[in-house]
Amino acid sequence: STDPLVIFTPSGKRGRFAVGTPVLTAARKLGVDLDSVCGGRGICSKCQITPSYGEFSKHGVTVASDALSEWNAVEERYDSKRGLKSGRRLGCQATIQRDVVIDVPAESQVHRQVVRKAASARVIEMDPATRLYYVEVEEPDMHEPTGDFERLERALKAQWDIPEIKADLATLARLQPVLRKGNWKITVALHKSHLPGAHHLIDVWPGLHEDGLYGLAIDLGSTTIAAHLTDLATGEVKASSGIMNPQIRFGEDLMSRVSYVMMNPGGDVEMTQAVREALDTLIRELAAETGVAERLIVEAVFVCNPVMHHLLLGIDPLELGQAPFALATSDSLSFPARDLDLTALNTSAQVYILPCIAGHVGADAAAVALSEEPGKREDLSLIVDVGTNAEIFLGNSTRVLACSSPTGPAFEGAQISSGQRAAPGAIEAIRIDPRTREPRFRVIGCELWSDEDGFAAATAATGITGICGSGIIEAVAEMRMAGLLDPSGLIGSAAQTGTSRNIPEGRTHSYVIHDASADGGPLITVTQGDIRAIQLAKSALYAGSRLLMDEMGVDHVDRVVLAGAFGAHISPLHAMVLGMIPDVPLDQVTSAGNAAGTGARIALCNVAARAEIEATVRNVVKVETAIEPKFQEHFVNANAIPHATDPFPNLSA
Ligand code: FES
Repeated sequence: STDPLVIFTPSGKRGRFAVGTPVLTAARKLGVDLDSVCGGRGICSKCQITPSYGEFSKHGVTVASDALSEWNAVEERYDSKRGLKSGRRLGCQATIQRDVVIDVPAESQVHRQVVRKAASARVIEMDPATRLYYVEVEEPDMHEPTGDFERLERALKAQWDIPEIKADLATLARLQPVLRKGNWKITVALHKSHLPGAHHLIDVWPGLHEDGLYGLAIDLGSTTIAAHLTDLATGEVKASSGIMNPQIRFGEDLMSRVSYVMMNPGGDVEMTQAVREALDTLIRELAAETGVAERLIVEAVFVCNPVMHHLLLGIDPLELGQAPFALATSDSLSFPARDLDLTALNTSAQVYILPCIAGHVGADAAAVALSEEPGKREDLSLIVDVGTNAEIFLGNSTRVLACSSPTGPAFEGAQISSGQRAAPGAIEAIRIDPRTREPRFRVIGCELWSDEDGFAAATAATGITGICGSGIIEAVAEMRMAGLLDPSGLIGSAAQTGTSRNIPEGRTHSYVIHDASADGGPLITVTQGDIRAIQLAKSALYAGSRLLMDEMGVDHVDRVVLAGAFGAHISPLHAMVLGMIPDVPLDQVTSAGNAAGTGARIALCNVAARAEIEATVRNVVKVETAIEPKFQEHFVNANAIPHATDPFPNLSA
C-alpha cells in the first residue's frame, strides 16, 4: 500500500495509515501509550507528541518537514492560550500526511515509569485506579426524559467506551449544577477497581479539570505512621510525612495493645478512634504543606501488620492475641475512606488495604513481597523485614514461603540498658580496635567531631545519649571480633580480655563504650543482659530463616535482602558475624530500605499490582513457627555467636 508509514518511538510500534489520520487515532490503533483526558478535543494537551524530521535510515524512512498537517485552528488557539513547547504538536489535532517518525515524550504516556531510588529498583508503571475523563454530555430534552446521570453514563459509553458507572449520593448531588456550569462539558474522576464491577464516579468538575488527582500510600506502623502524598498522573511523591502512632499510650508493642483490649472493655474502640484521628491530622497536614486541595485526594492505600489492620478497621484484635491467631479477614479490602471516618480527603475517596498473609504476617509483609518480588527470580532469596516481629520470606520462581518470628524489640534498642530509638545522640555504628579494644563510633546528628570515615574516638565524643538498634548489633558483633566475648556470648573480665573497659557488674561483666559520668553525663555500657537480649532476638530471626530453609529443603540461600527502615542501617558484615542471617557472600546481602512503604506506593500507582499481590499471597506457603518443634532446636543452636553448628565459610574468607 502507498499509505504513509508511521513509526512511534520509543515503543517502535509502526503501521500505515491513510492520509489525514490524526496521530492520536494511529497511536490508539497500534496500542501506543499516548495519553488523552479530553478525548481528542484539543483542550487537555495530554496528547503532546514530537515529530522527528530528517532521514531515518534505520527505519527506512525519510521524514519531510510537512509529514504532519499544518497547525489547525484548535492547535493555534491552544498555543496562544497556553503555549506549546517548541517542536511539540497536539497528537489529536495533527494528522498524518507522509511517512513520519513520532516521539511520545514521557509526560504524554499514561503508563509512564517511575524509577525507584532503592537498591533493588523495580520500576513502577503508572496505571492508577482513578483517572480523569473529559466528556460532553447531551443536554436534556422535554421529549426524552432521561436523567442527567443516565446521559452522563451514555456519553461515557460513547466517548470512552466505559460501560457502566455508579455514584455515591454526595457525588450525584453535585452532578446537576456542575453539568450546567460546564455547559454540558465536564471532567469526571472515575475509579476502576481491579475486581469486576462498574466504574465508580468519584467527583465531577465543570469543563476541563486541570489540577490533577492525588493518592496516599500509608505505612501504618505500630510506632510511626508514614504517609506519601503522590501525584496519580506522574507517580511523583509530593510530600512525605510521619507521626507517632497515638496508640503508643495504650501499649508500646502490639501484644501490650492486645492485652489492653483484653483488660479494658471498649479499649479497641478507643484505639481505633485514636489512630483514625491521627491519620486525618496527618493527611490534613500533608495537603496543607503541598497546597493540594483535600478534595483532590481520591485514594489511599494502607499497609500494616494484622493488629494495626484490625484496629484501623474497628475490629477487636482479641483473636490475634491467642492461638490459632485467626484474622477477621485476610483478603484485601476496598471501601470508601469515609468508612474510616477520614475527612481530609475527597468524600468519595477509595481505600485499598493489601491482603494479610496470616495472623502474624500482615499486609505490610504482603507489601514487602510486592516490592521485592521473591517469586520472580531464579535464585533463592531470603527477605527479612526486621521489626518487633520479623517477617521472613524465602523463595524463588518455584515457591515462596513465609513466616514471622517473634524477635522482640531488642533490635530497636528497647530492653537494652543504654538503648534508645534511632534519634540524635544515639550511637548508630561502632568499631572496636581488636588490638587496643578501644571503641570508635558514629553518633546520629553529631558528625562535627568525627574522623574522616565518620567514626570518632570515644574520648572525642559529646552529646551522646544512648545506643540504637543498629548500634547495639554492631557493638555485639565488634565485641565478638575483638575477643571481648566468647562464642557463647559471655563477656570476659578485665583480666581475661586485657582491657579496663570490661568492668564487673554483679556476677557478670559489662563493656564501657562511653563514660561521661564524671561530668554528670551518661555511662553507656553493653551489659551481659544486653548481649542476652540480642542473642534471643537474633536466634529467633535465624531460627525462622532456618525453618523456611528446612521446608524448602536447602542448606544455603543465594542472597539476603534486609528490609525495613531498620534493615537499611544494618551492616551486612555485622549481621552475619552476629549470626542474624545465614551465611552468604557479603556482596549478596542488600538493603531494600522501606520495602513495605514501596509496596504501598506500587499498589497506589498501579491497579494491576493489586491483583498481582493478591495472587502472590494466595500462593505463599505460610510456615507457622510457634507450633513447629524444629523451631526450638534451631533457636537454641542459633544462640551462639555466630552459631553452634551451622558453618559460616563466608566469614572466614
Ligand atoms: Fe486532549 Fe489532544 S487529546 S488535547
